[in-house]
Amino acid sequence: MQPDVNSLLALVYLISGAIAVAIMLELKGKPKDRINVRAFVLTHRLLGYLFAAIFIFMLVNMVKKVGAYQDEVSTKTVIHIALAISIVPLLSLKIAIVRKYRAFTSHLLILGAGIFTFSAVLVMLTAGYYYLHRSDVRYTSITAVDESILDDDIGRHFVFKRCGKCHAYERIFRSFKSEKGWSQTVNRMAQIDAPNIRPFEIKQIINFLVNQQERRKNDQADQVAEEIGKTLLKQKCTLCHDLERVTRASKTETEWSATVERMITNMGDPEFLNPIDKKALVKYLSKTE
Ligand code: HEC
Ligand code: HEC
Repeated sequence: MQPDVNSLLALVYLISGAIAVAIMLELKGKPKDRINVRAFVLTHRLLGYLFAAIFIFMLVNMVKKVGAYQDEVSTKTVIHIALAISIVPLLSLKIAIVRKYRAFTSHLLILGAGIFTFSAVLVMLTAGYYYLHRSDVRYTSITAVDESILDDDIGRHFVFKRCGKCHAYERIFRSFKSEKGWSQTVNRMAQIDAPNIRPFEIKQIINFLVNQQERRKNDQADQVAEEIGKTLLKQKCTLCHDLERVTRASKTETEWSATVERMITNMGDPEFLNPIDKKALVKYLSKTE
């Protein structure tokens, strides 16, 4: 789920909880005429349903996300999960009292305030952390001045520390990419996993990934280029039609260049294939067909 959708949901969740508690305070704390009471009770109930529905939705999402982790989870995540799970029995108790055990009605306000407090801490802790670190997430690439800090061992360390959380390493080592290609992918991953993968780590990871593919091909530049072409073909050219459509065609380099350019237009996305990758792919296509 998008962080923005998440934040919006969390905001609606908190506001509906806050208003529900405020309504109860108003009802219990001040004498009211009958018509007002009915409107207040109805609003409180609707907000309660909304609150519970959003909570269940976020809980299910959280469980799914945690289930996909292959790594040890961070302290922040543990606190997040603990708070979320503590809300479950409190909310169940509140619903049970409202539905069946009317004798305990006088405790509902305290229970409601407790649920709201847990929720507020849960949301603020998570949102606060995200907003504090969000500004760190910017596009990072290797520049000439980075020569001195780049180190394969550090890069390898970060690949194995950061990149196995959501998918198998195989996904990484099966791909061959240009430096630009790896920069785009690693930056996208950092965006998805914000704020865990830092700019320093991104540089080291890109450097390691570029170097390891050269080592695996014994420093043969043309073999690396071929693998990059193969990766691009599988990734970019199977989105709208099967690979056969491509392998069936036999074209010269100039013709391939025109075809690939047309496919980029078909895609309608200027980020789809950068000029360096386009060249590598065209070369691969004209060599293998
Ligand atoms: C927070 C989860 C997460 C982390 C951490 C993560 N990835 Fe990914 N990765 C994804 C998802 C989701 C996809 C599929 C969607 C996509 O391609 O954007 C993916 C796809 C990929 C792909 C295939 C698509 C492509 O562009 O080639 C590669 C390669 C990849 N990841 C490499 C990495 C590397 C390298 C790291 C470590 C820097 C990493 N991933 C860390 C979630 C993650
Ligand atoms: C956005 C969708 C899309 C993507 C991505 C795409 N294609 Fe196509 N492709 C099409 C469509 C639509 C046609 C048929 C119309 C045409 O030829 O433009 C086609 C037709 C083709 C043909 C047969 C026509 C010809 O000129 O020989 C080839 C070959 C081809 N594509 C190769 C590729 C290659 C290589 C890539 C990867 C760079 C790619 N396609 C990616 C949509 C796409």
